[in-house]
Amino acid sequence: MTSPIRVAVTGAAGNIGYAILFRIANGDLFGPDQPVILQMLEIPPAMKALEGVAMELEDCAFPLLQDMVLTDDANVAFKDVNWALLIGARPRSKGMERKDLLGANGAIFKPQGEALNRHAASDVRVLVVGNPANTNCLIAMRNAPDIPPERFTAMTRLDHNRAISQLARKAGVPVTAVKKVTIWGNHSSTQYPDAYHAEINGRPAPEVINDDAWIRETFIPTVQKRGAAVIEARGQSSAASAANAAINHVQSWYHGTPPGDWVSMAIPSTGAYDTPEGVIFSYPVTIQNGQYQVVEGLSLSDFDRAMLAATGQELLEERAAIEEMLG
Ligand code: NAI
Repeated sequence: MTSPIRVAVTGAAGNIGYAILFRIANGDLFGPDQPVILQMLEIPPAMKALEGVAMELEDCAFPLLQDMVLTDDANVAFKDVNWALLIGARPRSKGMERKDLLGANGAIFKPQGEALNRHAASDVRVLVVGNPANTNCLIAMRNAPDIPPERFTAMTRLDHNRAISQLARKAGVPVTAVKKVTIWGNHSSTQYPDAYHAEINGRPAPEVINDDAWIRETFIPTVQKRGAAVIEARGQSSAASAANAAINHVQSWYHGTPPGDWVSMAIPSTGAYDTPEGVIFSYPVTIQNGQYQVVEGLSLSDFDRAMLAATGQELLEERAAIEEMLG
């Protein structure tokens, strides 16, 4: 029998946790022949709820779910894990400044990075979902010096999927007709959803859309602010779509990207396209054999460059606010 893949999920009793665990146990990440072990981390007040989630997982009798670990200790949760999905984070409470939010999350992601460094399997790969995702990822990465930095990524796949849907809807085509969409930079409202390098049915998206005002005044802000719009409508932040995007992120990293397309992933900055070094920046990437590569050679307009500079600047400011946590 194939040996199981160990997947850690933090914030496992939260909203995204509830939407993602059942899909992982169902085999959505690695396929129908690959058993998994779920190693779920929560904080003490949520352990009882986590037990309830584990009861439900058990009640599904998933053939691929070989074992479960429930814990409030990161050292236990990350023991021998091959994949770590860091979803649990401290939400912004009333009156909290951005710097306080960054600091409160640093207090979570620094020890989690250290625990990954001590206990994870040598092939561990990390996806940070909990916000502010890029900077949380940077903190975890910098506190895990023995893990190659390129194994740390943050999620912009939800923004990427949102962008695909908006373009498909505008063009009146199925989502599968839209390729080469990019989310650049930070998973925040400064992100740059790039339609200019995208293709629709193999043609340049701007040519098919033929409405530049729509791209700048509707498409970009809609994708940037979609998270807030979902909260406004649902009273809670995106959970099922975020879980789905996290599944897609891991699927792409594990199985690779198809020819003629790419995905968006926030990764340790390579400096490509004049992006700032030393931050976690989202780029267009292709993936083969578990290795991602930034798409090279895209020609950027002045508008593209200004958008990249703005989101890069925000990431530098976030880094400056938590500099002392960078190990
Ligand atoms: P939630 O509040 O429903 O669940 C978060 C869970 O994390 C809670 O159960 C909480 O007890 C747990 N938690 C808090 N601190 C923890 C720690 N130190 N260790 C382990 N668990 C801990 O939130 P939800 O909706 O599941 O969202 C989780 C995070 O994902 C939030 O930060 C949210 O902003 C972020 N998010 C990111 C997206 C992205 O595209 N990158 C999209 C949507 C949400």
